[in-house]
Amino acid sequence: MAEDLSIITGSKEEQYRSLLPQITGLLQGEDDVVANMANIAAALKEQFKWWWIGFYLVKGDELVLGPFQGPVACTRIKKGRGVCGTAWEQERTLIVPDVEQFPGHIACSSFSKSEIVVPVTGNNEVVAVLDADSELINHFDATDQFFLEQITGMLGRLKAAG
Ligand code: SME
Repeated sequence: MAEDLSIITGSKEEQYRSLLPQITGLLQGEDDVVANMANIAAALKEQFKWWWIGFYLVKGDELVLGPFQGPVACTRIKKGRGVCGTAWEQERTLIVPDVEQFPGHIACSSFSKSEIVVPVTGNNEVVAVLDADSELINHFDATDQFFLEQITGMLGRLKAAG
């Protein structure tokens, strides 16, 4: 496996389209979920330079901080709390254009202004969430949702198999 990523400039969609096969390659032959989450977080951070990107894993009735890139973050989030806990409870992607307008948003960092949270589903239940934060208002949109759901789908398949 080549560990160097090819980072490109271009539209958001072009960036995702370049990154996706590389992430597929990174996951190939590796079924350890934490290792794969770590590389996905690193790859997304390298390409998009978001403020914070990482995973929270479902453990009992809480989300617990998993592999991430960026500043230190809250370690535990209850189901239904914050953007992450709400995406878990509702089992759907949440795009929050302005975190100050989201009731119950958990501010791990005052620099975070917008956010997207995508559930990772394995065996028909949410096993983790992918959370991306930006220091820019209204940074995430349907393009991010489309491609990040493909990425979490790769992980969910592994989890279901493993
Ligand atoms: N803002 C999230 C908490 C996680 S941090 O952003 C890394 C939330 O409201 O769930």
